[in-house]
Formats: sequence, structure tokens, C-alpha cells
Amino acid sequence: MPHIEHPVTDDSGTVRWKGPLAGTDHTAIRVPDLQIGVQWYRELLGLVVKEQGAGRAYLASPVTGHVVLALSEGGAGLDYVSFRARTPEVFEMIGRRLDEARIGADTAPSATRPDAVDALRVQLPTGHALEVLLAPDAAVGSPVEGEYRPGSIDVRTSHLQLRTTDVRGLTEFLGVLGFRSSTFVQLPNSEQFFIQFLRANEFHHQIAILTGTEGVHHIALEVDEVAFWAMLDHLSVVKRPAEYGPVRHHEGNMLSFYIRDPFGNRLELTSSMELVGFDHPPTPASHEPWFHMNMWGPQPPESWETEWM
Ligand SMILES: [Fe+2]
Repeated sequence: MPHIEHPVTDDSGTVRWKGPLAGTDHTAIRVPDLQIGVQWYRELLGLVVKEQGAGRAYLASPVTGHVVLALSEGGAGLDYVSFRARTPEVFEMIGRRLDEARIGADTAPSATRPDAVDALRVQLPTGHALEVLLAPDAAVGSPVEGEYRPGSIDVRTSHLQLRTTDVRGLTEFLGVLGFRSSTFVQLPNSEQFFIQFLRANEFHHQIAILTGTEGVHHIALEVDEVAFWAMLDHLSVVKRPAEYGPVRHHEGNMLSFYIRDPFGNRLELTSSMELVGFDHPPTPASHEPWFHMNMWGPQPPESWETEWM
């Protein structure tokens, strides 16, 4: 897989090991009813409303006030996923890369989260929208007014998993945006892949692509390890079962569980993702298949293998 050089500089010099994109900025999920959606995401995940307008609500961590999800009214599935460029230079560089690759992009800074300076959107080969965002890096945030409570859980962004029958094609497309392969499984006697874990920054993956009927399989959020178990205890209090988990994934070495919203969207909650560095070489997965999904043994239910949006 060709690696495209993306020099990333900051005030102190060249920083190559972190990559051009800071990571998943936020992910917009479609829900048929905004009010029911906001209520579910507040009660189940403890997210708070940062801003709500016509047909869209931006949901933030109750601790930092950072927007991690947007809910877009109408249907179900992925509306768009947004990745934040680390610097204005990176944002411009990605625009040039897209021009050189003859990939069309729309600019849509008004159609994304509060505080956006600029944004461009491309259509992935799967038909999903991916946004590159230029926005201030709010390293230390502050809670949304009146929303912080003792014991509130800080929820951060993590990754998403897409399905397509052309894993190689989508991997190469995302390479233009600076994504690199961390771990992969090649299909036997084929140029195609069963799975690609791609990263745009120094953590193991921000987009996973599996072979299968086109769609988004899950959208993942991250919490600290102690908060991960607290989140599961919270599910028991409100009597909402996880679809699968808790498990420990081999790729990324995270704790994980999955839960569906009332509209069929699948959320994954994980603990912190493994740090590998942007210069990590692509590595073939070498363990038994069951070990990748859950190092503790129990494997996903049928719904995990057959249902996604
Ligand atoms: Fe995942």
C-alpha cells in the first residue's frame, strides 16, 4: 500500500509520528426523530446538548464540552464523519491532494459543528460523506453550562467501521487523505482484503473496513477504563442490555461493548486505543480469527454479523 508523505509541522518543528489529522473530530448519525434521539443519547451515554438547530443536535462530553456526536434528523445510519486537520497547512495540503487525485470536494463550514473555521467534504466510494475540518484545538475544554454533575463520564471520539466488498479500493481512496494501514487480513488467493485497520494519527485505527454489504457497521466512542466499567453498570441500572461484550479486542487492545440505539444504529464504547505512532508499518494479522474480536473468548451474536445500516 503506497504511503503518501504528509509532513506535519508545529511551532517546535516537524512532527511526523502523529500524522496530519488529529483524529475523529465528531460523527453525525441519522435518527428519524431528533427529540427521541437526543433523549436516548443523554440517558444512555450521558452526552449533553451543546447546540441544537433545525434538524441537527450536537452532543458533547459532559466533562469537556467537546462535541463527539451529531444527530441529524431523518432516517438512520451515517450522515458524515469528521476528521480535524492539525493545522491550517495540513487542511490546505489535503485540499491539494484531493485536486491532484481528481477527487471532488464540497466546502461546507456552515454545515458542521460549532467553532468550525473551514470544512471540506468528500464522498467515499461507499457513498458516505467524510469531512476534513479546520477548527481550533480546544485542548482543555469546559463543560456545557449547567450540565456537569459529579461522576460525569468524559466521552471522547474513537473510530468507525465501514463495510464494502472493495476493501482495497476504499483503503486506497482514504490513502489520499493520509490514512495508513495498521493491521490487515488479505483474502486468500486475492488482491482483496478481508479487513483493513486504518489510522490517520498515532493511534491504531480510526477507520476499520471489513468486507461485506456496503454500510456503516458501528460508530465508536472512547472512555477511560474505569469509566468503561461504570458505563456497563449504568446499563444495568437503566436495564438496557449491551448487544455484545464486554470484550477485549486484539487490534487496538481496547475493552469494548456494543449497544444499538432505538433506530438500529450500533454504538461501540471502548477504553483507550493502543498508541502505535503514525510511522507504524502495515502488519498482517497473525492470530486465530476468534482472538482478534475477543481475546477473552466469547464471540459476537448473529446480529453483529448480519445487521448494520
Ligand atoms: Fe470498532
